[in-house]
Amino acid sequence: MFHPLRVSEVEPLTDDAVALTLAVPPELREAFRHTPGQHIALRRRTAHGEEIRRTYSICAPAGPEPALRVGIRLVEGGEFSTYALKELAVGDTVEVMEPTGRFVLEPRPGHFAAIVGGSGITPVLSIAATLLIREPTARFCLIRSDRTVASTMFLEEVADLKDRFPDRFQLVTVVSREERQTGLPSGRLDRERLTGLLPALLPVAEVDGWFLCGPLGLVSGAERALRGLGVERARIHQEIFHVDEAPSAVATATPGARAPAHSTLTASLGGRSGTWPVQEGESLLETVLRGRADAPYACKGGVCGTCRAFLVSGEVTMDRNFALEPEETDAGYVLACQSHPATTEVELDFDR
Ligand code: FES
Repeated sequence: MFHPLRVSEVEPLTDDAVALTLAVPPELREAFRHTPGQHIALRRRTAHGEEIRRTYSICAPAGPEPALRVGIRLVEGGEFSTYALKELAVGDTVEVMEPTGRFVLEPRPGHFAAIVGGSGITPVLSIAATLLIREPTARFCLIRSDRTVASTMFLEEVADLKDRFPDRFQLVTVVSREERQTGLPSGRLDRERLTGLLPALLPVAEVDGWFLCGPLGLVSGAERALRGLGVERARIHQEIFHVDEAPSAVATATPGARAPAHSTLTASLGGRSGTWPVQEGESLLETVLRGRADAPYACKGGVCGTCRAFLVSGEVTMDRNFALEPEETDAGYVLACQSHPATTEVELDFDR
């Protein structure tokens, strides 16, 4: 559900990124309480009446007073990020969806680690800060990779964690394009590099949870490195930012299934259900949206997971899936924005 919230602060983070803080009125505090790692969707209507939604991770630590602060980096040609960086000002109102997402860590004792690239630091900053503040024995290792120091988001916030928790927070920064000037390790964090680096940094097998966030190449390389080092799949959590590959480059959820000529979709949402014919080529999310404007979505690109639904009956194919963990697809969840019917009747439940 979207709520209009007032912008209370816009702070430059780098030349091409800002931190946007939104004021949460007391009556919405409960609705906007977040688990560290979650994101919010922001919505705006353009002058032509087109609706644009984008998801941004919350960077603030979770606490009793929800602090809705998100990091927004300018994406070339990106309509929302251009608007956020060039036009949004304190006092403006933005429509904001309540926090969602399962790339989360509820604070608990243990040793955790993250490998992030670029703006992938945003959810991990909330995860690490909340953990270190709330769990006096927990430890966190952050390995971050950025193009240059000048383009690195949340430098101060991360340095602050290092000052506050010197014994429990380990930080490794790698810059990919600034070899000589900085004295920092340089080059890309690919699978090979991580396979050598990680065992030298921390006891890999003792880490209770790994959080990988950033561009697809970095996250998939980090996952392969961890799997190669013997880390079980269940300890690895990932969130992809920036997916450029065409859908055809990614395996479908149900390879080989064929689209029937005609099919109908029944969907339950907010306790009410409806049945609609699926038009040729459209995703099941688009089918639902024709009848129900309140169907949940943000990216429509298979990345954010906002459109997750339970497949009650029938079969679907998914163009791509960067949001659901294997356990979720095994349990019967699909991304409606990426799903097409593979049987004449399909039933989805958005409430489960
Ligand atoms: S709307 Fe983001 S994954 Fe479907």
